Parts: sequence; structure tokens; C-alpha cells
Amino acid sequence: MTVEKIRVGVVGAGWAGQQHLKGYAALPDVEIVALAAMEADQVAELQAEYGIPTTFARWEDMLETVELDAVSIATPTFLHAPVAIAALERGTHVLTEKPIAAGVDDARRMVEASRASGRVLQVVFNHRLRGDIAELSRIIESGELGTPYVAKAGWSRRSGIPGSGWFARKELSGGGPLLDLGVHVIDYALHLLGEPEVATVSASTYAELGTKAMEGFDVEDIALAFVRLKNGVTLTLETSWDSFSRHENVYWMTVYGTDGGAELRVVDYETSEFTVFRNEGGVVADYDATPGENGGHDQVVAEFVTAIRGGETEWVKHDGSLGLRRAEVIDACYRSAESGHEVALA
Ligand SMILES: NC(=O)c1ccc[n+]([C@@H]2O[C@H](COP(=O)([O-])OP(=O)(O)OC[C@H]3O[C@@H](n4cnc5c(N)ncnc54)[C@H](O)[C@@H]3O)[C@@H](O)[C@H]2O)c1
Repeated sequence: MTVEKIRVGVVGAGWAGQQHLKGYAALPDVEIVALAAMEADQVAELQAEYGIPTTFARWEDMLETVELDAVSIATPTFLHAPVAIAALERGTHVLTEKPIAAGVDDARRMVEASRASGRVLQVVFNHRLRGDIAELSRIIESGELGTPYVAKAGWSRRSGIPGSGWFARKELSGGGPLLDLGVHVIDYALHLLGEPEVATVSASTYAELGTKAMEGFDVEDIALAFVRLKNGVTLTLETSWDSFSRHENVYWMTVYGTDGGAELRVVDYETSEFTVFRNEGGVVADYDATPGENGGHDQVVAEFVTAIRGGETEWVKHDGSLGLRRAEVIDACYRSAESGHEVALA
């Protein structure tokens, strides 16, 4: 039996757009029929590499001209909502890069559009697919740590303001490292903790270094948050693009549970610490855990295609609400930082 190929268009040809192209190209039941991005040379190169029949400079022209089953969005964040909503209204399934949108109102409109059209809206959360996070998830689920009650998570860079200038412009990105890196950290932390609801956040942000490093920098360069979860767990967060600190790039997750703890630290993209702390019969029984195999964009793209193949019963389960929940936490953090007070989530 031949399966009809899913016809996909990709918007954006930067690092993220290229990961989507690579992911689709690996799937035999998908055809990349169009690419839209503004860098003519880059577009021509990718067109040749992936044998893409049609290319455009503007996403609007792609949606109007080509019949598509699905669209991948890998543009500056302020464009996620307009592209996604226009595509969903045409009955096209959408995979959008993280964060879901530049602001929580846009994110809500995207989820509404997904529900109204009954089509898939999936947000890329590739960090939860890392092998170390997958193994930590297995360890927590096995009950080895007992009940987690404290978690500390973060992603911090010494000097890592993203090169594409739009990241540091609020009107184009919606925010700084809290939105850019923090969305991954919030996603994997809440995922590891079993997706509890967030009760309150108290956050502060600074832009001491970013404003000196780049003209037009109007987002934070570091954000810290104290997050109370409705199940009683406390989660602390730290994200930065620029800070006088030890490592160029480090992300971490620490969990304290009633029967054990775990510390995971990834320095410059290499797992440097992944230890489980336990006592057995009053004797220290710590051990180093072994990360599983890394998943990433390829897996995200494959899962998106599987959701589309699943038919209407699957589509309604993929309405972008996971991405919206992350957007609500981040929005609450920004409101807390601005007001100087704790903010309760609805
Ligand atoms: N999941 C991850 O690990 C990850 C990593 C990096 C970036 N991202 C996300 O991916 C998105 C893109 O990031 P990037 O680093 O690839 O950015 P980038 O600046 O390198 O690329 C953005 C692309 O969007 C295109 N674009 C802009 N306006 C357009 C328009 N009107 N019509 C068509 N194309 C248009 C540009 O031409 C460019 O090709 C962001 O949302 C970012 O947060 C995710």
C-alpha cells in the first residue's frame, strides 16, 4: 500500500529551520515542497541540498501559493503567531519553534486557532529529548528518589547573546534568556516533575551586561525565579546570556526527593556531572548515572508527523497547550520582575 506523502513547507532558513529540513528529509513519507526565508543565497543552497521545488522570500506568498499539509515555523519569535494562525485557518498543521510566541496573548490565539481548525499545533521542545533528561525522567519515575520536593534548574552562559540581532529586541523576540533558554528549562523541569501546575512565581531580571554589549538591547540578560508548584514542590530557575561566571555554557537540573537526590550538570554541551545520591540501610549509595541516547529535532519532527498521521482523534490532543502553559509561567515571571511582587497564576 502506498501512503500519500505529507506535503510540508518550512519558514526560516537559520539554524532552527535547517534542523526542521533535516528532520523531514529523513522521513520517507514526507515531501518538502516549499521553503520561505529572506536570505536568497542560503535559500538557494538549501533548495539544491534538499531538492525543494519552490522557494519564497515571504511566508505569506508560500501559504497563498502552495498547497500544504503542514508548515514548520523557524522564524524570529514575533512571527510564530501570525504564520501559525494563518496556516491553521487554512487547515494546515503547524510545528512551531520554541517559544510558542513572543507573548502569552499570541500564544492563546494560536491555541484557539488550533482548536477551531482541529489541526495539530506542536511546539518544539527538543531539550526534554536529551539523553540525560530522559534518563533522569526514568530515575524519578522509578521512585528511586522518593517524592521530589525541591528542584533547581537553569541555563547560564558567560558570553552568549545570540548572534541574530532580533533575539535581543523585545518587539521581535518578546524577551531575553528567560524566554529563549528558560522555556527549555521550564519545559524539562516541569516535565521531569510530572507536569504539576504552577501556583506562584517571584522573579527578577537584570540587563547590566547586555545593554553594554549590544546597541538596541532591550531585554534582560539574566533572570531568576522562585516558583511554587501547586503540589507543594519548589522550583528555582536561573537563565542568562551574559554573566561573569565559570562556564561558557552550562545547564543543570537538581532534584531533592524524600529518598534520594540527583544532580545533572552539562558544561559546554558535555555531561560533566550526573549523580544520584541515596542511602541504603544508612550507608551512602551514590552512583553516577549514564545518559541515554540524545534525541532532538529529528525526533520532534518525526513525532509531529506521527501526530498528523494519527488522524483527527490525535489532532485534538496536540493543540499547543503545552507551549501555552510555558508561556503563562514566563509571562508571570516578567510581570513579577516588573512589579517586584510575587504573581499568582490563574
Ligand atoms: N529548539 C531549539 O533548540 C532552537 C535553537 C535555535 C533557535 N530556535 C528558535 O527558532 C527560531 C528561529 O531561530 P534561528 O536562530 O534559526 O533564527 P535566524 O535569525 O537564524 O533565522 C530566522 C529565519 O527566519 C526568516 N524570516 C524572517 N522573516 C521572514 C518572513 N517575513 N518570511 C519568511 N522568512 C522570514 C529569516 O529569513 C531567517 O531565515 C526562533 O524562534 C528561536 O527561538 C530554537
